[in-house]
Amino acid sequence: MTAQSAIASSGLIRTDLTPKIASELKADIDELVSGKYSEEIRNLLEERGVVAFRALNLSDEQQIAFTKTLGNSELDYKISKITMDPLENPKAEYIKGAFYWHIDGTMLDIPIFASVMSSRRLSETGGRTEFCNTYAAYDALSDEEKAAIEGLKVVHLFEASQRYVKPEPTYEELQQWQTYQPNTLPLVWTHRSGRKSLVLGSTASHVEGMELQEGWALLTKLRDWATRPEFSYSHEWQLGDLVIWDNTGTMHRATPYPLDSGRLMYRTQIAGDEPFA
Ligand code: SIN
Repeated sequence: MTAQSAIASSGLIRTDLTPKIASELKADIDELVSGKYSEEIRNLLEERGVVAFRALNLSDEQQIAFTKTLGNSELDYKISKITMDPLENPKAEYIKGAFYWHIDGTMLDIPIFASVMSSRRLSETGGRTEFCNTYAAYDALSDEEKAAIEGLKVVHLFEASQRYVKPEPTYEELQQWQTYQPNTLPLVWTHRSGRKSLVLGSTASHVEGMELQEGWALLTKLRDWATRPEFSYSHEWQLGDLVIWDNTGTMHRATPYPLDSGRLMYRTQIAGDEPFA
């Protein structure tokens, strides 16, 4: 069941795509790019995790201008090409990590707030982007489960995420991965708003101070929980769609697609200002 409503006092038409995550918006492109709805869209992102526009077909300049209206307008925004095609992206090997659930920026103290991604070329098969709401997943834990994980810290390693893609790295590759410093983060993030979300994903290596297997079991159980269908939304791309996600309250991953499919996404990002806490 979807709910449809016009957001009060504006020309935005909102349709909720699932009960706990993701809303689709319809709006006039010039009004969007002018920043008329930036506050409402930011609020909706925090509330629903994912905001999608169908077949918006923004130009590069429009995508950058629109992204600026949602973040710090002083910053220099640029488009990153997300593609597995090594001819177009020399870092294609790293991008394979996108096939596994992750939060962007877990190797930093302040992760990015949101990503804005538009589809420029599609794969004939696969290549959806899946999202899960880590606020809703935390909220739905029982009081006992919440008490059991309160105060736990998780060590995040870049190499943990790369091992999904390359389980048997060379020594040189491992040394390269290890140039990223480990980052120890709370398992439960208490946001400035007072809301709490789970901090998980492919960089999560182990739970500090917990026996390794027990910690891996906990992290896997929580990932299974957070990615259950009731907390998730899977976006099947059409050409020109634009999807924004609140990176601080969701995890995401791409579903498999052929590496030579030509799939090409243009992504801009909005800097964060809230440290993991
Ligand atoms: C990403 O992980 O940022 C990209 C996801 C996708 O390509 O669908």
